[in-house]
Amino acid sequence: MTAFETLQIHAGQEPDSQTGARALPIYQTTSFVFDSQKTAADRFALSDLGPIYTRLGNPTNEAVEGRVAALEGGVGAVLVASGQSAEFLALLNVAGAGDHIVASGSLYGGTYNLFAVTLPKLGIETTFVEAGDPQAWKDAVRENTKAFFAESIANPRSEVLDIATVADLAHDAGVPLIVDNTMATPYLVKPIEHGADVVVHSATKFLGGHGTSIAGVIVDSGNFDYTRYPDRFPGFNEPDESYNGLVFGRDLGPDSPFGANVSYGIKIRVQLLRDLGPAASPFNAFLIAQGIETLSLRIERHVENAKKVIDFLDGHPQVEKIHFAGHSSSPWYELGKKYLPKGAGSVLGFDIAGGFDAAVAFVDALELHSHVANIGDVRSLVIHPASTTHSQLSEEALVAAGVNQSFVRLAVGIEGIDDILADLETGFAAAQAAAGASSGQDTQGAQ
Ligand SMILES: Cc1ncc(COP(=O)(O)O)c(C=O)c1O
Repeated sequence: MTAFETLQIHAGQEPDSQTGARALPIYQTTSFVFDSQKTAADRFALSDLGPIYTRLGNPTNEAVEGRVAALEGGVGAVLVASGQSAEFLALLNVAGAGDHIVASGSLYGGTYNLFAVTLPKLGIETTFVEAGDPQAWKDAVRENTKAFFAESIANPRSEVLDIATVADLAHDAGVPLIVDNTMATPYLVKPIEHGADVVVHSATKFLGGHGTSIAGVIVDSGNFDYTRYPDRFPGFNEPDESYNGLVFGRDLGPDSPFGANVSYGIKIRVQLLRDLGPAASPFNAFLIAQGIETLSLRIERHVENAKKVIDFLDGHPQVEKIHFAGHSSSPWYELGKKYLPKGAGSVLGFDIAGGFDAAVAFVDALELHSHVANIGDVRSLVIHPASTTHSQLSEEALVAAGVNQSFVRLAVGIEGIDDILADLETGFAAAQAAAGASSGQDTQGAQ
């Protein structure tokens, strides 16, 4: 079983052993009966990895974990309550108070806030760099740097990460590269194949695909050997007093009885998920699994529709600039061709003529497009990032994220393309009227 299209349906799940149920059962239970005290003790000691309590793991969630790990090419995955918690746990697994992270400045606004505002309160500092500048990553490294972080395709600037180059720089610095692959999905790029050590997702988006459930996933490649850096990663190399003296790197690393280095993922599950608790509900896991089963088909249609939307925007008199890695004007067009040969996704931005007023009129006039703070839904979506998803960013950070007041973000859905384009026409007509009205006002004001 190797084809993506097969794995997205079958990986991580067998027919239910008790009932033969073919679809994924929802194990809506908090806890699991131990058949003996010995089983209970073995599960707590991790010598038996069977279920204990849904905060730590659940068979429905496990199916999604196995499936996403297979699709991304990792040794394991942990499903959590949201994309934000996936990022938080992925970082906290390697960094603590007094530590430092290097991250691309071109990030989803919520992730930027996590790094710029919340992590510093916990004593973790981030240096933001221009992701396409290798020297900037190098220069930002400090003694206490514990990870590099970036998005494979940045939301919303559509900047493509040179994963192999940044992975090499991370490894030269002796730290893992964590890549948020939400915008691309493993159907378009598998960051682990290019050297990333950890992949995180907002499963809320394309993996679920239907806009029904919030969830996140952390996938471990198993490739980063934390035992090589005992001083930098004490959490992997010193006994965990909250886990009977387990040494994660030694006991669950490359020489572990699991036949792979599973230390990173298990450490997240048994320390961070246990103590901080952002577990995904099994019902949400079920819905995410339904979405993953059609991931390739949806992404193909998303990409096809996005290309047609780009053709429509290209040369449109009211479009000043297109922000999409799949468009030849993009500074990331060549990198996109290298890393995303099947397409640069379906989230794109454009600067509309007429500035803020035109952007707002455009967004408000659309009818088929839902005006929501989301991407990766089967429905076409629209938003004005500068006043919403990225509104907490400073002017400088907005520039780094590629967002200005004229910027409109479209998350192209999988509806009929003619209906999508007709709706965009309506938006442009409203934007033109608004721009005309405000330039009339300006003229009057000048008189
Ligand atoms: C690229 C990216 N990463 C992470 C997140 C956060 O995910 P969630 O909303 O599931 O917490 C988002 C949300 O929009 C996102 O776009």
